[in-house]
Amino acid sequence: MELSRILIQLVLWAAILHQLNQAIGFPLHAAALDDIPAYSDSTKSDKDWRLQVDAHVKEFEHLASILRDEVVNRLERLGKVSDSPEFLQRTFMSPAALRAGQLIRTWMADAGLFTWIDDMGNVHGRFDGMNSSAPALLIGSHMDTVIDAGRYDGALGIISAIAAVKALQRSGKLRDYPRPIEIIAFSDEEGVRFQTTFLGSGAVAGTLSPHLLQVKDKRGTTVQQALEKLSFPGTVESLNNLKYEPESVWGYVEVHIEQGPVLEAKGLPLGVVDAIAGQTRLRVSMKGSAGHAGTVPMAMRKDPMPAAAQAIVAIEEICIRLPQSDDHATASQRTPNTGGTLVCTVGEIASWPGASNVIPGEVTFSVDVRAKDDTIRELAVRNMEQMINEICGNRAIGCTIERKNEARTVDCDQQLTERLTESAIAATSELFTVTGVQTAIPELVPTISSGAGHDALAMAQLTKVGIIFVRCTGGISHSPEENVLDDDILAAGLAMHSFLEADLPKSQTA
Ligand SMILES: *[C@@H]1O[C@H](CO)[C@@H](O)[C@H](O)[C@H]1NC(C)=O
Ligand SMILES: [Zn+2]
Repeated sequence: MELSRILIQLVLWAAILHQLNQAIGFPLHAAALDDIPAYSDSTKSDKDWRLQVDAHVKEFEHLASILRDEVVNRLERLGKVSDSPEFLQRTFMSPAALRAGQLIRTWMADAGLFTWIDDMGNVHGRFDGMNSSAPALLIGSHMDTVIDAGRYDGALGIISAIAAVKALQRSGKLRDYPRPIEIIAFSDEEGVRFQTTFLGSGAVAGTLSPHLLQVKDKRGTTVQQALEKLSFPGTVESLNNLKYEPESVWGYVEVHIEQGPVLEAKGLPLGVVDAIAGQTRLRVSMKGSAGHAGTVPMAMRKDPMPAAAQAIVAIEEICIRLPQSDDHATASQRTPNTGGTLVCTVGEIASWPGASNVIPGEVTFSVDVRAKDDTIRELAVRNMEQMINEICGNRAIGCTIERKNEARTVDCDQQLTERLTESAIAATSELFTVTGVQTAIPELVPTISSGAGHDALAMAQLTKVGIIFVRCTGGISHSPEENVLDDDILAAGLAMHSFLEADLPKSQTA
């Protein structure tokens, strides 16, 4: 490596930082920047050098204006498109959801994309690139929200993808993209209205069953009626037509807020997902005999409540103690699960008849078990079943354990994940350089497994998927407190931009 080249790079960066600091007020530690050594190179004059620095600064400023400032503005605007004046709520096919779709459509058009809305209300924006019949890169996330939502969940992925494509469009590079790029804003991921998730991405991936059209919301309106009311066909045939052919798709990429605390704890803006955790949902029901709280002696009771309490504590214990990988650790080698991905939650509990002066006759509760490793999850669930049956046996309580839901782990594509990691590393180091963040962390972009679903889960049925996570404050999501730093929004945009740029013919990226 030539020393002079490294020096030139350093000097160039110093000058860029200096000008950036003046131009947009980044918090730079610029004490030494005024003493930039005079640049001398026999092949270039000082003036050429200054022009080059100016060009770099202008380019970065321009990028930041699209990838950060405009994205921040648009997130704020979209965050106000709500069905309620008091809080953010956009559910499938609601008036606000339609307005949001129209707004997103104008932003896609502004990025130079050809746009349309499909029969499930998904908004698409496509650019053909150099070969319109090559398999397309799909990038997306969802535009629906939970009730009293934050403005980043789903929206960030859509808006930052549009921004990255727009930046490439403005710099004239997009037309050389080797395959079509299609951004999709999915109409339903949260499943708030019909209690069924992935209506949007499921339709594109072709995973929806025709029965779905007859599912009812709280008011008794079916999915079909909701679609017909807005002049969508709502037929089984139209649903089937939405499915993309696997050969027509190259892969799917999604940017999403982490909705967890890992990145913040590491002090890093971006992470890349290696797998979406599998999930088991149990419904445990414990039957004893109801009785008067004052008259039945303790020794004669069959009270399911203490049995449930004992089981719930034991469930937590199993989750903490179980070894985290199937490397055949023996019982003696078991270490507490602190960094692993096995998580267990009892979130719902009910007792019957549920009165303070009555020994309950029945207690039911839910158990949600998730892990990156299907074997570990299965082992945990089997341990729980065994332990619950033991507790019930000892207390002469009748137990039933139902498996309500079972989803295997979905792996992200390894090559896609590697490419996304490279792009995210480039973005993070660029951001850290510009903002003067110093870090000793060797791994600038950690690999995280996702405990939540995301549209990528549905899209994985169609094509290879990759996900970039963006740090959110306190790991808080599904709440108006949800927050993402402006600079982290820039990092996400830079990562997508660099991911796309890497696909351009080499003469373009030099
Ligand atoms: C365009 O893509 C199609 C489908 O992958 C391929 O068969 C064709 O050769 C490509 N055309 C060019 C000019 O590369
Ligand atoms: Zn989401």
